[in-house]
Amino acid sequence: MLLVCSLAELPRGEGRRVDSVEPAVAVFHTEDGEVFAIDDTCTHQDASLADGWLEGCEVECPLHASRFDLRTGEVDAPPAKLGVRTHAVTVTDGDIYLDVAS
Ligand code: FES
Repeated sequence: MLLVCSLAELPRGEGRRVDSVEPAVAVFHTEDGEVFAIDDTCTHQDASLADGWLEGCEVECPLHASRFDLRTGEVDAPPAKLGVRTHAVTVTDGDIYLDVAS
């Protein structure tokens, strides 16, 4: 388990890129207060999904607006065709921990 940051450091509606793992992972805190982690790099081209826009449980890629479901990693809107991996995250004592899928 990797400590990402405290929950307070990742406000609702924002994402954070974790590049101490390879490939990088994006962790999101939704407006509803849930925390999700997916691969950070869009499967369409080389964009960081942590820089995208969160809406509900979806993130929209900042480059060409593909949308990925944070719960499943599946593509909800093209041009991306391939989904991204999801990773386990837990919040313990106010800190976000990431367990990268192998
Ligand atoms: S790089 Fe993400 S949709 Fe094109």
